[in-house]
Amino acid sequence: MPEILPSLLAADFACLGDQIAQAEAGGATVLHVDVMDGHFVPNISMGPPVLAAVRKISKSFLDVHLMISDPDRYLAAFADAGADSLLVHQETCPHLHRTLEAIKKLGLKCGAALNPGTPISTLDEALDLCGIVLVMSVNPGFGGQKFIPSTLAKTRALRAKGKFLLEMDGGIGLDNARACVDAGADWLVCGTSVFGNGDPAASVHRLFATLQ
Ligand code: DX5
Ligand code: ZN
Repeated sequence: MPEILPSLLAADFACLGDQIAQAEAGGATVLHVDVMDGHFVPNISMGPPVLAAVRKISKSFLDVHLMISDPDRYLAAFADAGADSLLVHQETCPHLHRTLEAIKKLGLKCGAALNPGTPISTLDEALDLCGIVLVMSVNPGFGGQKFIPSTLAKTRALRAKGKFLLEMDGGIGLDNARACVDAGADWLVCGTSVFGNGDPAASVHRLFATLQ
């Protein structure tokens, strides 16, 4: 069954616990946490303390998307803070194989993310290690961007390469969620389309309904 992953980046941080409870009431069981460092991507978001606070109030699977340079330095910190999966960007990992092994050794599900401009062939030799592959359907750094349609073909091509969990992230909403699943995606990250209209529970529910 495909999953809708509310992206906390688009939530109201002043009442994050309540926003999470609403998204979960709509049926979400996996939450997406975007970590940005102002270096690999132009924006800065949140780090281990926020993740630890979320862990305390939620039983959902916490999918942590590391948009940071040199992620190896922070893997243990995010594991300690309560991550269930850690996704690193291929573009930030000169030793991707080693980094994925390190995440596994911490007992977490590991994954690799690809920017829209990065070919899938850059993952070929590490695919057998990836529990998750994340196809960015926008350039990482900001919520609320427009979905890049060519990433559907990329997802389709990756689907043909194995049985890992395939995740898409960016610009996903009621108009294109079905197309993402048809292309082979299992997990759809939805930020603005969940938290942008004042009713996260109803939004998650509606997004799931488009996948039936
Ligand atoms: C973008 C982040 C996304 C973002 C998606 O860099 O990785 O997870 O929150 O937000 P929307 O759904 O608004 O595009
Ligand atoms: Zn993300």
